[in-house]
Amino acid sequence: LYGVSRVSEIRGYSHAAVMAEEAKKLAAYAAVDNHIQNNQVVGVGSGSTIVYAVDRLAERVRQEKLKIVCVPTSFQARQLILQHGLSLSDLDRHPDLDVAIDGADEVDDSLTLIKGGGGCLTQEKIVAGCAKHFIVIADYRKDSKALGQQWKKGVPVEVVPMAYVPVSRAITRRFGGEAVLRMAISKAGPVVTDNSNFILDWKFEHAQNWKEVNTAIKMIPGVVETGLFVGMAEKVYFGMEDGSVKVR
Ligand code: 5RP
Repeated sequence: LYGVSRVSEIRGYSHAAVMAEEAKKLAAYAAVDNHIQNNQVVGVGSGSTIVYAVDRLAERVRQEKLKIVCVPTSFQARQLILQHGLSLSDLDRHPDLDVAIDGADEVDDSLTLIKGGGGCLTQEKIVAGCAKHFIVIADYRKDSKALGQQWKKGVPVEVVPMAYVPVSRAITRRFGGEAVLRMAISKAGPVVTDNSNFILDWKFEHAQNWKEVNTAIKMIPGVVETGLFVGMAEKVYFGMEDGSVKVR
């Protein structure tokens, strides 16, 4: 379903896929309505769920004449901000954000996240770290008791290209599992991030102390950032299958 950016664009998809899109929209609209106010600096996340949040943000800016400045977390987010006619800024001009809204690949019981399914984890973590409030939006499929129960693709780790083999070996020697270089869909070459780096997807074997794992992986030379967001999310909005929104 990658590339489908709005519920209204879905044609010929399964009932489950349509439900998930509706759920993303519900979560996104609820988060924007509850957390965005006039005169805020807002971090804009990446992925497919954030598209709905930017739709709603633009609608509210138009209708309520809100003065909002947006800081993107990726090239995709930058394009979304511009396409919606929102005010684009950056961390040079706005290093203190009021709120950042972003999607997630999986959320566990203690609001630890796996992010980076779209490869934007580094800028997402930087922007979230600059925000007073970091709000996550997701559909019900991302809601998990423990990481790895729902998201099967592992923890993304952004690495400097020349270091992907030693980093992969260091991660698996210490923590087990398998850390695989993410390839482009065409298989013509590796995925290259907005920061010109590669992504390793570390498929871990069992639950761990994610705070310690995050710190240890970040210490490996060549690692730029991990997709483990520990102690960062303040609230998570899940759009549910029954049309409700669950807030954690
Ligand atoms: C990109 C991300 C996304 O926020 C995450 O993959 C969720 O994406 P989606 O909203 O499409 O499910 O971390 O790097």
